Amino acid sequence: MFYITTAIDYTNGAPHIGHAYEKVLADVLVRWHRMCGEETYFLSGVDQHGQKVQQKAEAEGIEPLQYAQKVTQKFIALWEKLGIEYDGWAATSDPRHEKCVQKILTELRDKGCLYKKSYKGFYSVRQEQFLTDKERGEDGQFGPEWGEVIELEEENWYFNLTAHIPWLREYVTKHPEVVTPEFRRQDLLMAIDRSTNDLCISRPKNRLSWGIPLPFDPDFVTYVWFDALINYISFAGYESDGDESLPSFGKLWPAACEIIGKDILVPAHGIYWLCMLHAMGFSDDQMPQLLVHGWLNIKGEKMSKSLGNIVDPNELCDVFGAEAVRYYLVRDTKTGYDSDYDVERLRMIYNSELANDLGNLANRSLNMCVRYCEGILHRPTDDDEPSADLRKSLDEAEKTFAKQMDAYNTADAFGALNAHVSLCNGYIEQKQPWVLAKDPQKSEELQRVLYHLLESVAHVSFLLGCVLPEASARLLAQLQVDAAGLTPQTLTWGILPEGHCVQAPSPVFPRILTPEEKEKMAAKAAAKTAKNKA
Ligand code: ME8
Ligand code: MG
Repeated sequence: MFYITTAIDYTNGAPHIGHAYEKVLADVLVRWHRMCGEETYFLSGVDQHGQKVQQKAEAEGIEPLQYAQKVTQKFIALWEKLGIEYDGWAATSDPRHEKCVQKILTELRDKGCLYKKSYKGFYSVRQEQFLTDKERGEDGQFGPEWGEVIELEEENWYFNLTAHIPWLREYVTKHPEVVTPEFRRQDLLMAIDRSTNDLCISRPKNRLSWGIPLPFDPDFVTYVWFDALINYISFAGYESDGDESLPSFGKLWPAACEIIGKDILVPAHGIYWLCMLHAMGFSDDQMPQLLVHGWLNIKGEKMSKSLGNIVDPNELCDVFGAEAVRYYLVRDTKTGYDSDYDVERLRMIYNSELANDLGNLANRSLNMCVRYCEGILHRPTDDDEPSADLRKSLDEAEKTFAKQMDAYNTADAFGALNAHVSLCNGYIEQKQPWVLAKDPQKSEELQRVLYHLLESVAHVSFLLGCVLPEASARLLAQLQVDAAGLTPQTLTWGILPEGHCVQAPSPVFPRILTPEEKEKMAAKAAAKTAKNKA
């Protein structure tokens, strides 16, 4: 079972292009694994508790739950628009989740992993955490990133995190697969060495009421991270008492891939989460694997409200279509690294790789097949050098694609398919089917050329199904290929049988025009109308 999850998104704002990237990456990977015939389960969701949600709700004069649900709707609507097909939805105000969190808290307390103590210190309201001297800048002050800092004394409940640190250090050292990419695992190892404090897991209700109440101390709610991290198991059916609305935990766990951004590896997922699982009694081979992606920035700068540079994925889908956005996000971002969002690159990559390369290849090949051969394909019986090269190129592209997808490197995977498409376009120029069509003696060669082109389009269209489900289905329909039962493993040369009939093309990737091009077109059209009138 390929159980994949993404970080659950905070409901204290609206989804942005970074959130969209994470979800598209997960969706593309899960579709790939499903395509390979693996059983898959994709969990997505929202993080609804915490101080910021309470504050925003107060500012709007509504209840925190109402506020969280309102923002949740924006995420759900975006995932639908982007074609994100998740199987489970993790919303932390869900009673099934609250029950599970409370059970875990009770068990941890019974095991002696939780204790209560008083603490006085400096507290960042924005980050909802106490600050230590480590957080002071060179000038001895707490920097602006902490927002308002106040002095506070409180009693709270603590998780004995430090007791699990020696195990964590050894585990992360011995298991390179726990964090991808490797350089992030090195970051984690360094952070583990700096981990010297236990984790405060409660908030007094008089300061924060919007959270899951501690089952054994009603004056407190659970710290938002301790609650949120548990979503990966609560919604996977952990301790669900056979609740049939949840999956069977034994089937899903451990997660093959938990996708998170680089900002929440340390300390949340890499330290808190793994130690929490260890404290609950999960063994080494029951630990999840973390895939850490980078950030999408704007011209090298972080997206932020204050800079006013937040990109709304909704608008992009409306302007360019969801599949153009999906393709751009996973094609132009090297998994694990930061990347610059750039609308010009979106347009450029779509136009060159989809509209020009694949779109033209499909249109020209189908067109020629219909025009010269009545849409009927003949599988060649003889061979020549260029077509052998083409078959070799397709085979290599497919191998690279599979290898890179398995390694989460979507950019290189789709790059490999595009390279083969380009080669096919070169093959058309070299073979000039329109010349072959004029000579009855060359009809076998013509058929060989068309077969190689359309067989290539069929393979590439099938594999692109994980990023472009709609376009892939449309292309396969024009090729009259039934993809049911097809997997990357059974995708061998010859899926188009002798005598196979294809349809006339209808373009799947209309070019995205620049605003200038659009203006020009509009001016032309206006001139034409004016001329017609005159
Ligand atoms: O961190 N580029 O929620 P969140 C790419 N609720 N990814 C980005 C990004 C950007 N510019 N900005 C954010 C939280 N992300 C917690 C998670 S999990 C138990 C709780 C990613 O809404 C970020 O790294 O701030 C995280 O993986 C996800 O979006 C949600 O971020
Ligand atoms: Mg965040």
